[in-house]
Amino acid sequence: MATRRILTDGDEILRKISRPVNEIDKRTKTLLDDMAETMYKNEGVGLAAPQVGVLRRIVVIDIGEGLLELINPEIVQTEGSKIDVEGCLSIPGKRGTVERPTKVVVNALNRKGKAIQVTGERLLAVALCHELDHLDGILYTDKMIEDVTDKEDKNQ
Ligand code: NI
Repeated sequence: MATRRILTDGDEILRKISRPVNEIDKRTKTLLDDMAETMYKNEGVGLAAPQVGVLRRIVVIDIGEGLLELINPEIVQTEGSKIDVEGCLSIPGKRGTVERPTKVVVNALNRKGKAIQVTGERLLAVALCHELDHLDGILYTDKMIEDVTDKEDKNQ
């Protein structure tokens, strides 16, 4: 495993649409391992492949409940809405509020190519929406209601 360099806002790769994974091979598994290591090292709760310069539809998430590895994830259901604070490893040092669903259901493949379904509520719903947006070249700041970088954060 190895950590990879995280691209930061301004890099045009972050604005591109990622392609689906057609075959889960050794490189895909190495990428998943490296993405998890990079996320943990940087104390993030999620990371999308384009953030490490790979335009493939792959995300890793861990909100403190274990590692989720999602290949070709798609949101199939959403419920509710809530405004909460988000940050992003590609936009270091900044935070802002975004409106997201309170619950999302995501279909994806795991690293074995098995179809899985993840239901996320609250923080996991936010993380899923945020990371999946990266696969379409969208950053949270595109949807930001208010920049709260300089305000006290009561959530963490
Ligand atoms: Ni992000």
